[in-house]
Order: sequence, then structure tokens, then C-alpha cells
Amino acid sequence: MKKQYRSALAGAFLGIITAVALNAAQPNINMTSFGTLRDGRAAQLYTLTNSQGAKVAITNYGGIVVRIIVPDREGDLADVALGYNDVSGYVKDGSTYFGALIGRYGNRIAKGQFTLDGQAYKLATNNAPGDIPCALHGGNVGFDKVLWDATPLFDKDTPGLRLRYVSKDGEEGYPGNLDVTVTYWFSDSNELRIEYSATTDKATPVNLTNHSYFNLRGEGIGNILDHVLMLNASNYTPVDKGLIPTGQIAPVAGTPFDFTKPHAIGERIEEQNEQLEFGGGYDHNWVLDRKTGIIGKLRGSLQKAAEVYEPASGRVLEVLTEEPAVQFYCGNFLDGKNVGKSKVAYKKRTGFCLETQHYPDSPNQPSFPDTILRPGEKYETVTVYRFSTR
Ligand code: BGC
Repeated sequence: MKKQYRSALAGAFLGIITAVALNAAQPNINMTSFGTLRDGRAAQLYTLTNSQGAKVAITNYGGIVVRIIVPDREGDLADVALGYNDVSGYVKDGSTYFGALIGRYGNRIAKGQFTLDGQAYKLATNNAPGDIPCALHGGNVGFDKVLWDATPLFDKDTPGLRLRYVSKDGEEGYPGNLDVTVTYWFSDSNELRIEYSATTDKATPVNLTNHSYFNLRGEGIGNILDHVLMLNASNYTPVDKGLIPTGQIAPVAGTPFDFTKPHAIGERIEEQNEQLEFGGGYDHNWVLDRKTGIIGKLRGSLQKAAEVYEPASGRVLEVLTEEPAVQFYCGNFLDGKNVGKSKVAYKKRTGFCLETQHYPDSPNQPSFPDTILRPGEKYETVTVYRFSTR
């Protein structure tokens, strides 16, 4: 379906007309300064407001989702995304990836190296679980730490933000100029839709995702252990102590990794289990049960991957994706050093991530679905975070 876009200004104007006619809030996009980077460049914050008055705020620094303000079952709004009030918070942090767009390759690549078409490539090893160095989330300066070109836009009454970044050939050790576009949309039904696309002029691994940490009670309000999680996945990819997949696709049945039926995140997290020990809790890649297989090598159809319910607020988060897998990470490495938007220190397990993705370390694992994008091909994938209440 061909989409008709109109400018943010025109969209906001038409939004006012809609608001008058339906007595609803006016969908709009508001741009404010988000502070300056160390080199003096300015970052902006774009707040997308839907007709329900719910909001998602995104900065062009790292394409970071800064705020997700959605109602609880009483209609009271709260911000359910962990993060900071200005760009300097994100620059200082550097390693939690709160809300960020992740690329060129989400999650880990063993030893920071891979061979592609007979040529060896060396990446920065910016992470070392169990003291075993690997490449994580795109390297020292991944897509989460660059300034993207931003264009606010509307699709009918849905506000959106289109971000573009061209990653140069050789950047962070990866081959090829990679031209990346990510568009965020925030609909009237409180769906945050993320459309990723990319093209390249040399073969390169690509695995893009978003690294939002959620706390459905509200950011800064306690831990997420009471949140009830369902993952539409009968299998996962176990890891070694460096958090690199062993190559095995293992059934979750009979293990604390079985979320095919809903379980509180904290219910089994302290059980004696080598995999939980390696991750310090849940920090693994679940292989989604898809009704249809992955069509082609890079995308399938949009299917439900996960659902999270927070009993006190009644908030529900559903995750739908075209990706074959999801990294469920429950903030095990948060240690209270990062003080967030409401001046509360983010302690261990005060936020969880559901990072839709291809499997970690795929460039070194021939049996995993292919992550190599080649010239002439288009990488396209969609993930939706849908907020509701129960
Ligand atoms: C990884 C974690 C890592 C976190 C942020 C997640 O995607 O799986 O191991 O600590 O990102 O740094």
C-alpha cells in the first residue's frame, strides 16, 4: 500500500481540525532542544502525541526512545521507558543502551570477528562477559551514539519520525556503506511501530533493533519481577559463559526459560540453572514459533512474539515482529549507578528489554538464519510495541 505523507506542519493543522470535529486531543509532533553533544552539535527531541493524549518522545541522538507515556487501567498516564532527561545523560552512560536504535549488528559477535566471502573482518571488542571479549551492539560508536537526520511526518493522523543515517564503509570495522532508514509511528491505538530499512554497496552483516527498557508500572518505580511475561517461543539459543550462542537450538520445555504460558519474570529467576548463572538472570535469545517461516532470508510476516502484563497498573505490552527471534534481557547488569528521568537510580532488574532480532553471532554460525545483506538487496523489517490495559 502506498502511503501518502504530508508535512508535520500540515499534519498538525489537520490534527486541530480533527480535534474540533471529534472532541479528541490533537495528534501532533512537538520539537524541542535535547541539549548538545561534546562536539557542540545539537540534539533534538521529537514528541509524538496521539489523539488519546499518549506520547512517545524520540531524540535524533541514537534514535533513542526517551519517553513512552501511556495510560494505566484507570486512564492515568505514566512514562514506562527508562532513560534520561537530556542528551548528556545518554552520552555519559554509554553502555546501557536505554531506548536506543542498535546497529549495525545487534547483540554479540564472538571475539569481535567474522569471515565473509573469504575475507576476515575485525571489530572492536567492547564487551567481555565472563572476561571473554566480544563485539556488542555495533561497537564503540554504534548507531546508538550517532546523530541521525530526522524528519517529522504524518500518515493520515498518525504522527511519525523518520531517521536516516549512512554508516561509512569500514565504520566500526564493518564492510560497505550502509544507508539506514528507521521510521517510528505512534498510532491512536497506542502502537509504537518501528520500520527498519537498509541498503549496502558491499556485503555486510545487518541486525537492527531497538533497546528500550520497560517498566510498565512506570520508570523509576521498583523492579520488574512481578511483570507477567509470555513468549511465543518453544526454543531458545543457549549460550556459553561469554554469552555467545553454542549453536544449539534447545527446547524451553521443563526449564525456567519456558514462557509459552505466562509466568512472572521473578518466579524462577533464582533457580539453579547454568544458563541463568551465565546471564546473571534472563539475557537470552528466544527463537519465535512462527506460523509461517521466515520469507526470504531477512523477513517474515508480522506475528506476536511476546506479551507482558503488569498487575498493579493493568498495563499490557504486546510485541509483534517480522524477526525470527527476541532477546529478553531483564536488566541484570543495571547496578544503581544510572540515575534516570525521575531522579531515581535504576537498580538491578528495574527494566526489561524485548529486542526483536536475528540470532546473536549469526555471522559465525552457518546454521542460523542468514544476516548478510548484499548490494541490490533491501533489508526491511517491522516491529510493533502495542500498549493497552487489562
Ligand atoms: C544484552 C545484555 C547487555 C545489554 C546492554 C542486551 O541486549 O543481551 O547482555 O548487557 O544489552 O548492555
